[in-house]
Amino acid sequence: MNHIVIIGFMGSGKTRVGKRLSQEYKLPFVDVDKVIVKRMGMSVKDIFEKFGEPYYRALETMTIKELTKDTERKVISLGAGLPMQEQNQKIIPQLGKVVYIRGSLSTLKKRLEDTNNPLMQEENREEKLKKLLKQRDPVYEKFANVVVVTGVQPVDGLIREIMGKLEELEEEEKKN
Ligand code: S3P
Repeated sequence: MNHIVIIGFMGSGKTRVGKRLSQEYKLPFVDVDKVIVKRMGMSVKDIFEKFGEPYYRALETMTIKELTKDTERKVISLGAGLPMQEQNQKIIPQLGKVVYIRGSLSTLKKRLEDTNNPLMQEENREEKLKKLLKQRDPVYEKFANVVVVTGVQPVDGLIREIMGKLEELEEEEKKN
């Protein structure tokens, strides 16, 4: 499919950027976490607590598999843990072009101060954040067709940068 797929760490602004891109491109916006929450009628935190993380991961896989068959082009934001799961790694490139919004440790730390993300409820948040970021950044990078950095410019600039890079990518593809 030809969707625009947003990946990145929690707090990187995937939803905000995804919504803005969907307005610019006049495409529907889909947030995979929200699809799951709506279907289950429960928050992500409650699904993790009641059914466990593997169950949540299976719901994520099911949701993105459906999206590979959805022929209406969309902007899709993926939960931060989704690209880490092996069962999803073959599916992500089938969704479309992948944009990684990279955030530095200090940017993310600031933005995640009040998060209720189930994976960030430990005592030493900074250590947990550092560890997760170290594991995840290379994986996000591997899947990305476009990488941009958040926290260094206003969101308008970030949106223009992403759109410019996606356009370049398209031009390149046309040439080949
Ligand atoms: C998770 C990130 C969350 C959500 C779930 C697990 C993770 O998504 O999918 O809480 O593994 O980091 P966001 O990236 O939208 O916060």
